Amino acid sequence: MFIARTITEVRKQITQWRKQEHSIALVPTMGALHEGHLRLIARARDVANKVAVSIFVNPIQFDNIEDLQNYPNNEAQDLELLKRYKVELAFVPSVEEMHCTDLLTGAHLLAGRLGEDLCGNFRPKHFDGMVTIVAKLLNIFQPDIILLGQKDYQQLCIVKELVHNLSFNVEVISVETLRAADGLALSSRNSYLSENERERASALYRGLEHIADGIEKDEDNLEHLTNQAYILMKDAGLHPEYIEIRCAQSLKPLRQIRFPLVILAAAWLGKARLIDNILCTGKAKDNP
Ligand code: PAF
Repeated sequence: MFIARTITEVRKQITQWRKQEHSIALVPTMGALHEGHLRLIARARDVANKVAVSIFVNPIQFDNIEDLQNYPNNEAQDLELLKRYKVELAFVPSVEEMHCTDLLTGAHLLAGRLGEDLCGNFRPKHFDGMVTIVAKLLNIFQPDIILLGQKDYQQLCIVKELVHNLSFNVEVISVETLRAADGLALSSRNSYLSENERERASALYRGLEHIADGIEKDEDNLEHLTNQAYILMKDAGLHPEYIEIRCAQSLKPLRQIRFPLVILAAAWLGKARLIDNILCTGKAKDNP
């Protein structure tokens, strides 16, 4: 595996692969890799013959300095894992190499309307920072395919919009959320949970599932279902920021059931801000 620390090194490798007519998939990450990331890498392997993974804890997408400082960092372990998974290129740049100070104070991208909704209501400028760094990575790698997890559903929608609006020549592939046996979506931030909190954390998924089950049974009082999910989460000690039922494509609010739809939630549990979602297509729940 080639470990690139600079943009120049990545471009050199990509140019060589392009000459050899290889297809290239990029899996962007912030490190602290877990099975969910490995699922993205496995999928990347299926769709391209060279797999690149970026590990960069992007400071401009953190709205809170403490969250940035506490974000788990296991670079050596991450690189070992990527080697084992036969990733061809790992890009591990420094903050300076990515010109992050310039990105904050100078030219950068805005996520727009979608970026101010849902998580954007609680994390101002988070999606501006995310979309700017994703655009930068697309520019550096010029991959055929970029793979993102469905767990960050709003992020996925914003990146799809970015690619569409700015005509990036890349296909966005979303990969289904990987869950622990009790339903909790795998996330690097789960490491902030104490043992006791971890036992209660699956209430986030159970709340979403409660709404999804109700929708499947044609219970069309969405407000009532959502209120019940709030109660379920609060009873487990979670502090939900939002629980919303939205159109799966536009993320616009829904007052009545119209498929495909997505049920999204964010909630605090101790030091962890957890997010999750369930996609409902109208046939069967996507996240059994
Ligand atoms: O989902 C993440 O880990 C990050 O938001 C991403 C896509 C790597 C951009 O920094």
